[in-house]
Amino acid sequence: MDIKSFVAKRKSELSVLAKSAPLTPTLMIIQANDDPASNSYVRGKIKDGEEIGFKVLLNKLPTTVLQDELLKEVEKANLNPDIHGLIVQLPLPKQIDEKVVKLAIAPAKDVDGFHPLSPFTPCTPKGIVSYLEGEGFLFKGKNAVVLGRSDIVGKPMAKLLLSKDCNVTVLHSKTSMEDKRAYIKMADLIVVAIGRLGYLDHSFEYKPSAAIVDVGINRGEDGKLHGDAVAGLPVALQTPVPGGVGLLTRLALMDNLMEAANNELRD
Ligand code: GUN
Repeated sequence: MDIKSFVAKRKSELSVLAKSAPLTPTLMIIQANDDPASNSYVRGKIKDGEEIGFKVLLNKLPTTVLQDELLKEVEKANLNPDIHGLIVQLPLPKQIDEKVVKLAIAPAKDVDGFHPLSPFTPCTPKGIVSYLEGEGFLFKGKNAVVLGRSDIVGKPMAKLLLSKDCNVTVLHSKTSMEDKRAYIKMADLIVVAIGRLGYLDHSFEYKPSAAIVDVGINRGEDGKLHGDAVAGLPVALQTPVPGGVGLLTRLALMDNLMEAANNELRD
């Protein structure tokens, strides 16, 4: 199934769950930047929530906000029983320490899965794995290569794939090109998240049965969005950009929010 249909199907399932829930799952987004990419992500999250029947509140703060003021807003949302999920949109302005903010969010509400005690799986890795499961990809014993080691994608992706019994290799900027080529040639699954337009190209060798998951979102000279892989590589499955992993990440956030609201009912 293509990603758009997969997401539409899961959203309509969530919408049925939302209607029958005794409370409206509610997400608060705190945004303290005016970054065009962030604005577009936030609009997407609000749209998804509204389509499903969740409530999404946006608390937009000035980019000059001080760390203590931002932390006060986080604390207010932590204590508000009507808010089940809380995310602070990244990046944060330079006067604010991202680590401090991530640790200030109540783990039970941390639907981004950034806090070390958060019960939620980070959204991009979660969305990718649930889509591949739907495609019938069998993880056990497969060679998975993760390109990139960011805190948001590379590291949690590697951890999740390891929990699915993959043989996981993380490649990064200090890996030699010779080693990259060798690992990629052996890979059954390649997740690329390095932010370099068209990095995976026809010069690499791939297993014909491999799956390539493209997390890159790069603005090309043509003004359009492109992934970290060139389109049309000779593999069994390759996710497109745009219309690929971005949609899966947003879906996983909604899944986490439903779970957070359900947990609230149980407590
Ligand atoms: N900025 C880019 N991606 C994300 C994300 O998944 N969550 C948050 N909070 N900010 C982001």
